[in-house]
Order: sequence, then C-alpha cells, then structure tokens
Amino acid sequence: MKFYQLSAKDRRKILDDEGIELEEIDEEVLEKLNNLSENVIGQLRLPLGVVQSLNVNDANYMVPMATEEPSVIAAANHGASIFNKNGGVVASSDRSGIYGQIVMAIEDDFDLALVEKKKSALIKEANDKFSSLVNHGGGLCKIEFSLKNGDQQKLLYALCLIDPAEAMGANKANSILEFLAQNLLAVRGISEKLYAILSNYPSQLTTAKVELDFASVGGRKVAERVVLLSKIGQIDPYRAVTNNKGIMNGVDAVLLATGNDYRAIEAASAVLASRNGYTSLSRWRIKDQKLVGELTLPMAIGAVGGSINARSDVKQAFNILNPTNRISVKDLANVITSIGLANNLAALLAISTVGIQEGHMKLQARNLVASLNVPESEKEKVLKQLIKDKIYTKEHVQEILKEISEDK
Ligand code: MEV
Repeated sequence: MKFYQLSAKDRRKILDDEGIELEEIDEEVLEKLNNLSENVIGQLRLPLGVVQSLNVNDANYMVPMATEEPSVIAAANHGASIFNKNGGVVASSDRSGIYGQIVMAIEDDFDLALVEKKKSALIKEANDKFSSLVNHGGGLCKIEFSLKNGDQQKLLYALCLIDPAEAMGANKANSILEFLAQNLLAVRGISEKLYAILSNYPSQLTTAKVELDFASVGGRKVAERVVLLSKIGQIDPYRAVTNNKGIMNGVDAVLLATGNDYRAIEAASAVLASRNGYTSLSRWRIKDQKLVGELTLPMAIGAVGGSINARSDVKQAFNILNPTNRISVKDLANVITSIGLANNLAALLAISTVGIQEGHMKLQARNLVASLNVPESEKEKVLKQLIKDKIYTKEHVQEILKEISEDK
C-alpha cells in the first residue's frame, strides 16, 4: 500500500520506525483529522483565546481567536475596549458574490454576439443544476464575456459572479464553473476549455468604521500621531505592509478559529492593498473632533460548509460567537473586519506612544517563565523582576531565583 493509502495510525508507525519521536494523540481525534486532510500523522495545536466583548452594529460579541503570537489577543481586547467606550463599530458587508473565471479557446467562426445571446439560458441551466444553492439564497448571478489574445490564439474569458449564500462557496463555485465550461463547449466556435476555476480576486467587501473621542485614545496629540502613522502607511510600502500585517494578526486569528480559509483572505487583501500602489488597508483621520478609523477587507468567508461543520473545535468557536444561533456570514465578516481594525488601532497607539516592545516584552517574559522550571509560588515574583530589569534571558531568571532563595 502507498503511504497515502495507509491509516493515520499505520503512517505514524512508519515515522516511529524511522526514529521520529511523535507526540501522543488520541486515536479517535487522529481518525477525525484523517478525514480532513491527506497523509495525516498528527495535529498542530494553537492557543485559543477570546476578545471578551466587541460591540459591532449594536450587538455584543465574544470573539474567538487562535494565534501563537503573544500580544495579538491583548491588542485586540485593547482596541475593542476603546471601540466599546465609543459606541462600538459600525460595519457592513457586501455579499454580492465571489468571482469565477472560465477561459476557453475559440476558432475563427466564433461569434461573441451568439454567446451573449445565450447568456441568460446558460445562467438558468447552471442555477437549475445547482438548485440547492439557489434554495439557500445563492446561485450564479452574472457572466461577463470578453475576448483576449492568448499566445497565438484567441481566447474567450467568462468572468462569473456566484453568490455562495452562507458558505465561502469555493467547491460549489468550482462545480458551477466546470458545468458552465462544459455547456460553453456546445456553442459554435468554442473549441476547448483552458480552465474554469474560482478567482480569489477581492470580493464580498466588508467595511468597519469607528469614531473615537480623543480622550479614549490618550488625547488629541496621540490621535494626531495615529493619523500621521496612517498617512505614512498610505505612501510608504515599508510601513504599509507592517500596518497590514498587524491587521492580519487579528483577522487571521478569527479566520483560523472559525475554520475559514485565511490564505484566500490574505491573497485577496494583498490585491486590495495594491490597487494604487501598495498602501495600508486601514485609514485614520480626524473629523469633527473625533479620531475616525476605517478598514475595508475582502471577506470571502463562510459560516457553514467546508470543514466548518465537521470540526468540534470550530463548532466551539461558533458557540462563543453566538451560543444560541449560528452567527450569519454577514455578521461574521463584520466582526472579523472589526477585529482587524481593533488590532490596527492597538498597534498604532503602542507605536505612537511607548513603542511596541514594552507590551511585547512583558508577554515574552511570561513565555520565558512558563518555559523554564520556575516553581509556581515564585512565578509572579520572577515575572515582576524580569519586567523591572528589562532583561529577558534564561540566565537572568536563574539569577533572580538564586536571589529569592538567598533572601529566604
Ligand atoms: C506585530 O505583529 C504587528 C505590528 O508590527 C503592526 C504594526 O506595526 O502596525 C505591531
């Protein structure tokens, strides 16, 4: 049997025989994971934390975040608490659909007018075939045909817009596109399908906006620094990419926790940030004596489908977001974008005041203490001393422990 055909348990045995030390794993868990991916031999765990309260469109959410980076969840909580003091975030999500692209080779007798004439029939056929998506409120909405010159060949491009309803819809979109491509082959002059696949081009744009009193961010001067930093991010790609990384810290953490495809959002966000040269995705300005922040992100996410229903850890995340009902995909997109804005504000505030290292180092100190054999009773004392001395090394922890024992 080939490696990929083996059970996860047998694959682990092969690794074990090769002398690779593997972590213990519950067999039932292993079997479940084996259904999600290929060549599975174990699991990778991440801490799951929460933003305790984030007000978006007058509703309060507890937001699950999965990340290993110290200070990301603290930053999101900090940003969220400032937003909450100012009446929360106003957010809106445009769920008009995700893109799909079909490219077909055409012959000399191809007539664009003919395929344009058949467009409504092609859309209807696809929606009849995928009626379950239509019943959920989605379906193929639009096709735009155009002709382009390929390498020594004329090509027909079909840009499609597919409403995936509450799901991200990647699989369904690909099935619809394959079906459509097959039907296009019946049109005179279309000779071959080159490809039919969804496009991760920015879609499902979601905007989160806050208006903050100067006092809530530490005064007008701090607000002005935030605006200046934001302006730098609009013109300087070195700052813009770091600004956007800080946004993605929060966004990816919620995407991961909710079983969403963070790679798709990352790829689409990079395109969105590059529309006029690479710039910050967020924008901060002062208007009517308030610090106003805005962030728009492409949120091609789902609240159902994919691995979402198959994973108990993801179910847990959805329970955290809404213990009684499944959060709608629009509300989830609004929450995720708001968290991105919260992380962004926290980073800009830290940078424009004490600098980012102070907060980071406190968390690094906590990690250091946790990773060494510091007795439980001394942990707090060691942590305090490390932060006071600003020396975050293993040797310094040992010196502090020695001093504590000498003082006893
Ligand atoms: C660190 O992970 C993220 C920040 O660098 C973001 C920023 O500079 O805006 C703090």
